[in-house]
Amino acid sequence: MTGILQNQESGVLTLTLNRVDKKNSLNASMYAALADALQMATDNTEVKVVLVQGHETVFSAGNDIADFLQQPPATEASAVFRFLKGIAVFPKPLLASVCGPAVGVGTTMLFHCDLVYAGDNAAFSMPFVNLGLCPEAGSSLLAPQLMGYQRAAEALLLGEPFLVEAALEMGLISRVLPPTEVNAYAQLQARKMATKPLSSLMETKRLMKSAQTPAVLARIQEEAVSFGRMLKEPAAIEAFSAFLGKRKPVSSS
Ligand code: COA
Repeated sequence: MTGILQNQESGVLTLTLNRVDKKNSLNASMYAALADALQMATDNTEVKVVLVQGHETVFSAGNDIADFLQQPPATEASAVFRFLKGIAVFPKPLLASVCGPAVGVGTTMLFHCDLVYAGDNAAFSMPFVNLGLCPEAGSSLLAPQLMGYQRAAEALLLGEPFLVEAALEMGLISRVLPPTEVNAYAQLQARKMATKPLSSLMETKRLMKSAQTPAVLARIQEEAVSFGRMLKEPAAIEAFSAFLGKRKPVSSS
């Protein structure tokens, strides 16, 4: 049981984050399943579009903090980095359906999606600074580009969450719907896209993304080095221990 459900139908591979009791936080086996699914979807001509979705109450609480403390990702071969690189270079359309909290990588993965649909209960946050960490998934590059520097600073330097109105206005999401309708609507859009010629979809995406991809990959790499180092430092260890112990962290200088 990986916490990721897969369903392939009408040219659409749907990946459902399915660990609702832990708010769909992503552990190493879920990252591995997602990375493997993206590789399979790249190679399989039957798959034209991938849709990542969560539950109508929660998209993802980000990295599984307990898992990160026990087995911090150490190398480029780790599942989390395979996933982050996989979404950055995924050559076919990638859609997401987001309701409820989208924390950390739950938000940063959306910067790599071609279309994002959200429930009106969606709340986005990148609280790395509150956890003694730094941005990941290329978000230190992509957030300022999409949001504008000052709004990105509010999200990344203060760790302030933002809601659907702001996400819609900045272009992170394409449409807001009632939470009970988002997954179905995203599926409809994905299937509509999957009726189009695969070569056109892939070439269009390549043309839109290719100038930026090397810079995004280099930034993911740079962030990963810092993130890996910071995971072992006292601020992160205290923030993680506090979360797991359901207490407030003791602030560090
Ligand atoms: N890693 C591991 N476990 C997590 C988790 C995470 N990122 N997020 C939530 N959980 C677990 C909780 O420990 C809790 O487990 P328990 O029932 O065994 O005690 C369960 O999921 C429910 O979480 P809870 O915090 O009680 O739910 P909530 O509805 O009050 O709040 C969130 C939801 C997402 C706002 C809150 O869980 C949260 O802030 N999570 C941490 C997010 C975060 O900092 N992620 C970034 C990591 S880099």
